[in-house]
Amino acid sequence: SSYTTNTEKMSKTIIISNRLPVKVNQIEHGFQFTSSEGGLATGLGSMHSADDTIWIGWPGIAVKNKEDEANITSFLDKRRLVPVFLSEEDINEYYEGFSNDIIWPIFHYYASVHANYKQSNWEYYKSVNQKFLDVVTRVAGPDDTIWVHDYQLLLLPGLLRSALPGSTIGFFQHIPFPSFELFRLIPWRSELIAGMLGADLLGFHTFNDVRHFLDAATQLAPVNTSANSLTYEGRMVLAESFPMGIDNRRYLDLAKSDVVKQHVAEVKAVHTNKRRLILSIDRLDYSKGILQRLQAFELLLESNPEYVGEVALHMIVVPSRDTVPQYRDLKELIDRRVGEINAKYRTINWTPVYYFYRPFPIEELSALYLSADICMVTPMRDGMNLVSKEYVASRVNQDGVLILSEMAGAAKELVDAILVNPSNIASMRDAIVTGLTMPKAEQKRRMVLMQRVVAKFTVAHWMKLFMSRLAEVKQMQTSLSTR
Ligand code: F6P
Repeated sequence: SSYTTNTEKMSKTIIISNRLPVKVNQIEHGFQFTSSEGGLATGLGSMHSADDTIWIGWPGIAVKNKEDEANITSFLDKRRLVPVFLSEEDINEYYEGFSNDIIWPIFHYYASVHANYKQSNWEYYKSVNQKFLDVVTRVAGPDDTIWVHDYQLLLLPGLLRSALPGSTIGFFQHIPFPSFELFRLIPWRSELIAGMLGADLLGFHTFNDVRHFLDAATQLAPVNTSANSLTYEGRMVLAESFPMGIDNRRYLDLAKSDVVKQHVAEVKAVHTNKRRLILSIDRLDYSKGILQRLQAFELLLESNPEYVGEVALHMIVVPSRDTVPQYRDLKELIDRRVGEINAKYRTINWTPVYYFYRPFPIEELSALYLSADICMVTPMRDGMNLVSKEYVASRVNQDGVLILSEMAGAAKELVDAILVNPSNIASMRDAIVTGLTMPKAEQKRRMVLMQRVVAKFTVAHWMKLFMSRLAEVKQMQTSLSTR
């Protein structure tokens, strides 16, 4: 790769995440490259394209031969992306198995007494983290800053620390860190904590996540803790909260663009100006509370018949991890529920739930954010949730209502949303009624306050804060060791 020979710059930043912001799909003659879904890719993606960082990760496909590997590598190389190629077994065991069937449910408080802790999943989790290490050590220079992301790579900071002892390593977790009573269920909990402690600075979305991590580290590793600073193997490690933001400017610009205005006109033509629109956008995931949201909407139609024919739920579910059995099952349940609600309530010229199971380009999402009277972001548990912030950023007229789950990291910042407990279906129905009847002045009061937060704490701000804190930790370590 050209990066290994790049000597023009003394040091660079290397981002590492399981998935690259670009996804490779096999098509009949060759490959197609599309954008990846999820908060990590959209959030960090804007930063990567504006900066000269390098991004290492999996291109989202099992590549069968060296020629394909070379083609994909050279396409990605032009975009400062470096692939880590994974085999089909790696994907089954490390990605679908350990990451998405063991860590994901536990970290989202979805622990099942029947959880299947497969030893082979763990073996692959270790070997794939090692594969990532091999690529990083090929690309990294001694003065580079290495920034590892998310739960698929919890062992990588530790592996990096052994391979490159003096390096600067940051780690950011995009999903919640659970209470110790859940985390301790994982058979390999101590190894995971030791892996994370290879970093100099560990970032989480909320203070609760930090607290839970510190708790687990204190119980499972030989650390000395003082406030949010740990000493591990003679090295100072800091854990702090850095709530991630969005590229606010981009959503403002989109909202004012002609192409988005055109899309808004299309949406209005279908839903009419009079009919009220509730928007829901998620990746397919049981942590997102999609079924509970449908239940709340159905309860509204049942208990408040005046809204039949007057309110529509525009629901986008973006396909994700549909090879994991739990996700496939969820998809079927959603399909059935939507079918039932529509069959029961629809009229000749009104459909209660406009349901889409596919990704949409950002211009169409922007138009939906602009058209929706209410945006419902009601996950059962979510690290941050950037959809809530995108809705707020898009509301250039300073109206609209955000209904937000208390269990999303964003609820710690967007305190002027209507906050709900997504397990309380009746309270979600009540929140919809409150939203539908909220006076414009009150909508504006809340929206202005939320927009201040979103406009100030952008993704660029988040990154700068994390990076400067990481540099500070490094300095503190040096001054401690030379004392
Ligand atoms: O933002 C959280 C996250 O889990 C990322 O780590 C991940 O890339 C994204 O959601 C989407 O999931 P996946 O990469 O499994 O499609």
